[in-house]
Amino acid sequence: MSKSTLPSHILHSGFFHPVLRSWQAPNVELTPNNLMFPLFIGEEQGVVPLPSMPGVFRYGCSNLKDALQPLVDKGLKSILLFGVLSHLPKDEKASHADSVKNPVMMALPRLRNWFPNLVIACDVCLCSYTSHGHCGLMKDGVLDNEASIARIAEVAVSYANAGAHIIAPSDMMDGRVGAIKEYLIKAGFGNRVAVLSYSAKFASGFYGPFRSVTKSAPVFSDRKCYQLPPGSQGLAARACSRDVEEGCDMLMVKPGLPYLDIVKKTKENHPEYPLFVFQVSGEYAMLYHAAKAGALDLKQALEEVLLAMRRAGADCIITYFTPLILDWLAPKSKY
Ligand code: PBG
Ligand code: ZN
Repeated sequence: MSKSTLPSHILHSGFFHPVLRSWQAPNVELTPNNLMFPLFIGEEQGVVPLPSMPGVFRYGCSNLKDALQPLVDKGLKSILLFGVLSHLPKDEKASHADSVKNPVMMALPRLRNWFPNLVIACDVCLCSYTSHGHCGLMKDGVLDNEASIARIAEVAVSYANAGAHIIAPSDMMDGRVGAIKEYLIKAGFGNRVAVLSYSAKFASGFYGPFRSVTKSAPVFSDRKCYQLPPGSQGLAARACSRDVEEGCDMLMVKPGLPYLDIVKKTKENHPEYPLFVFQVSGEYAMLYHAAKAGALDLKQALEEVLLAMRRAGADCIITYFTPLILDWLAPKSKY
């Protein structure tokens, strides 16, 4: 008898029907709960297309209601805000990271009011607001870690005061999670604001489109001294454990697809913590342009990537494709 007829060698009998297939992929189902939508908010009103990320827009704060209402109706549960300056000056201290004119500061109370059930996370970093474009503050040409984390924690409290539910520090300074927690607790937000740490964030070539949107590329040098070296599993593991020790509420791996081994390892090391995966701007652009060129079918390829992220251990995926995915997930009919 050939092996292909032995009962234990027949795999096809386990997945010939869609329902049987769903049992073969437990816990990787994708629902709106598993998606977080990153949004760019600008100083000016209007809906501005972004050339480096076709299909993604920058919104003025008064345009957010109309833009988000249809998504909330389709089940959108959480968003991640990025501020983009066009006229306000950038300086050494990142003064406009949390000034009253900062687009995120202006949008937060309105969003809370328009969408009382939507969870609002804010990226907290200085690179969009510093004159040199680095993620921390500089002193004599080098990063001043202590001054950086104090300023970042101050910005975190400003965002919490304005209505953020989640503070997501993406700067990668040492000790920033601890500093943010300390400041939040002192300000009375200890039990009301979560910290989602960009814990394993690599120095990646996939951030290019984002940096052109936010005009946040460093003016000199690069970020290799604070974002993790792409080959290092050791630093990723240490960074996550360190952030856990400092009291973060959720962990993140970023970028996503090239780092699924890190996703799996992080979930294994910290099963108690919700794990976020950021499908970054370059991953978005890669899929968008490949599909546009006819190289692959966007729906099939994107579903496969999302599934792979869930399979590796992602509880929530931060993706610019969220509006498209919500469309796919929306019930076609009520009956
Ligand atoms: C700011 C920040 C970046 C991203 C999120 N927050 C850029 C960077 O660190 O250079 C990347 C997001 C994306 O590419 O989609 N520190
Ligand atoms: Zn930054």
